[in-house]
Amino acid sequence: MRPTHRPANPCFGSGPTAKRPGWSVAALERALVGRSHRSAAARARLGEVLARSRALLGLPDDYRIAIVPASDTGAFELAMWSLLGARGVDILVWESFGKGWLIDARDQLRLEDLRAFEAGYGELPALGAVAPERDLVFAWNGTTSGVRVPDGDWIAADRGGLSLCDATSAVLAMALPWTRLDVTTYSWQKVLGGEAQHGMLILSPRAVERLERFRPPRPLPKLFRLTAGGRLNEDLFRGDTINTPSMLAVEDALDGLRWAERIGGLPALIARSEDNLRVVAEWVERTPWVDFLAREPSTRSPTSICLRIVDPAVAALPRADQAGLVKALAERLEGEAVAYDIAGYRDAPPGLRLWGGATVERADLEALLPWLDWAFEETKSALM
Ligand SMILES: Cc1ncc(COP(=O)(O)O)c(C=O)c1O
Repeated sequence: MRPTHRPANPCFGSGPTAKRPGWSVAALERALVGRSHRSAAARARLGEVLARSRALLGLPDDYRIAIVPASDTGAFELAMWSLLGARGVDILVWESFGKGWLIDARDQLRLEDLRAFEAGYGELPALGAVAPERDLVFAWNGTTSGVRVPDGDWIAADRGGLSLCDATSAVLAMALPWTRLDVTTYSWQKVLGGEAQHGMLILSPRAVERLERFRPPRPLPKLFRLTAGGRLNEDLFRGDTINTPSMLAVEDALDGLRWAERIGGLPALIARSEDNLRVVAEWVERTPWVDFLAREPSTRSPTSICLRIVDPAVAALPRADQAGLVKALAERLEGEAVAYDIAGYRDAPPGLRLWGGATVERADLEALLPWLDWAFEETKSALM
């Protein structure tokens, strides 16, 4: 049966994600457009993003936080280029973004002492294999497979190496153990539904110590430089930026942060994501044609919820035909203005990906699920 009730907001994509409930461009009215980002007023706005983010995340007082160029990719590559090479490096790879960091480390940085621990889509590599004396590179939540690490207990508290964590689809949706993380990065375009462009970089005191002591054996573009004359540029952690930020994006980030505070802060954000995952999990449980891509329940992401089609007739098709069916299903729902951007990532096994971060309303996911059943049946009978 064709459902009649549509989700109020059809944005279920994994980045940029849905704007927060009630958002409109009016949220940007006070943006300091046309002003120098070095003016006192603009620096105060940038500083406010840092202060509110620090409080919302519950960062330890001695951790630093800065706004850097080029979204999460910029923040993470800045960290890799600035810090890696001082020790051996262990990288964990279980989906496309981790793979990208491996390519950086191996083919671009050409790190000599590099170990990659890899697993296929749906699985995690053996976390116990990483060595505490080596640096560690990983993404907390694999956005393209919907597999996350369940906790940070496997990262040694007394490690000698640094841990570099790409947390862009995890932060503000999962509890992060800050004392186990030396470098953490994310973008505004994920859990708070902000705009892309700028990255957030969080550094532990040990990461700062490495930055000040270690001279990377490679050229560093100006966009990656956090130090001058061997000292950390502390102004970057107070509201200065390396180059010109978008004050429109800054205003939007502030709007997202204020919304998060209003609804109850980090615990409320996490609870909203977990609730969204629960709604989908209950549907998966009673729906024979679909299953989670993540094999182990404790690793199921509550943000990038990745599903595979297990209907025997579809699963028996060649991969290209499965991908074709998913594409047609997603287009059908987009045409109905019921769901945008829910086809799985291009490199992942064919399937669906629903964003469950805090800006997505549970009622919208509940309204979407019957449409998924309908669209699956319609698409399957049209194609097979
Ligand atoms: C885990 C992960 N890393 C990196 C990125 C790239 O983020 P950005 O495009 O904001 O640089 C994404 C984007 O989805 C991601 O999910």
